Amino acid sequence: SIHPVVLCGGSGTRLWPLSRKALPKQFAPLVGGKSLLQLTLERLALLNADITCVTSEDHRFLVKETVENAGVTGRQILEPVARNTAAAMASAALMAEPDDLLLFAPSDHHIPDAALFARTVHAGVDAALAGRIVTFGVVPSFPSTAYGYIEAGEALAGGHSQAVARFVEKPTAAVAEMLILNGGYSWNAGIFLVQARTLIAALREHAGDILQACESAAANATRDGSFVRLDRAAFEQCRADSIDYAVLEKHRQIAVVKFEGLWSDVGSWNAVASLHPADDAGNRLSGKASALNSRNTFVHAPHRPVVALGTQDLIIVDTPDAVLVAGAGCAEQVAEVVRKLSLEG
Ligand code: GDD
Ligand code: MG
Repeated sequence: SIHPVVLCGGSGTRLWPLSRKALPKQFAPLVGGKSLLQLTLERLALLNADITCVTSEDHRFLVKETVENAGVTGRQILEPVARNTAAAMASAALMAEPDDLLLFAPSDHHIPDAALFARTVHAGVDAALAGRIVTFGVVPSFPSTAYGYIEAGEALAGGHSQAVARFVEKPTAAVAEMLILNGGYSWNAGIFLVQARTLIAALREHAGDILQACESAAANATRDGSFVRLDRAAFEQCRADSIDYAVLEKHRQIAVVKFEGLWSDVGSWNAVASLHPADDAGNRLSGKASALNSRNTFVHAPHRPVVALGTQDLIIVDTPDAVLVAGAGCAEQVAEVVRKLSLEG
């Protein structure tokens, strides 16, 4: 069987002011009153297995409550500090049985077709059991610099997957344009199917220091109900890097399975807007929002009435303690502005 592991330790500042340190975007109600984490857990429930979440100590109760609301079971591995995805995945792999087939899934993506998702995951099983790290590729729609790019090579036995010829994480704009023009590349969906032993061997080869720190953090972990606490002193020593830079760009034994369904990493307010239906004038409204004589205006107003009158090409986000008003073309700059103004908290 496949063991899902949900990574929910990120803190996306691109969705400020909704996404904050106290409530990163995966926990915020975004789609029909549910959080992306809850939707992720409900989607993974189709795999009929316990679901491990790797998250920060600070969000343990939020995650546990969401796990219960989603009607699933499983443990939560708690990180004392954030050390990015390589360490989070290493820790989960070290706590699994070596032969376990792990499905690492981000907690903040929108994938509406859960049945197609489950079928696509199963299409990667052969390659994963043959010792590869299996990635899932989506058709790229523009030269984004926020994603990993996967070049597919020869077809692998079974016919469901291809070997990966090249993996390029977050290219510059110029390189991204080249890869798109080139064709043959897909975006990395950020979902990985891999046997625990395969991932551990790959980490040993490319990021031995990260593996070593996680080995001692996992060996000295303590249990507390469904919580498993990594050892603080050991985990703090760990280098922070993403699995994409630490392993995928360097590793040879990678496979890719094409994912044909709708996929969004909900990485910007434009992506959130597109989850809501547009009216005839292209306005997208959520909660208590209204728009009059407006065009292409997105309003997020979960708490109180917000009215857009005669506006055009705007993003308006209302929260109890901060408001964002941005040009529709500026959604990608929100994280940078939030950093510059030191508004992260
Ligand atoms: N537990 C834990 N600890 N989870 C983490 C941590 C951490 O320190 N850092 C990030 N995560 C979680 C995030 O919450 C998210 O669900 C997932 O891991 C991926 O991290 P991101 O920080 O969102 O990565 P990214 O979006 O920049 O890039 C990755 O995803 C893209 C697709 O959305 C890469 O894999 C790219 O190649 C890929 O295209
Ligand atoms: Mg992401």
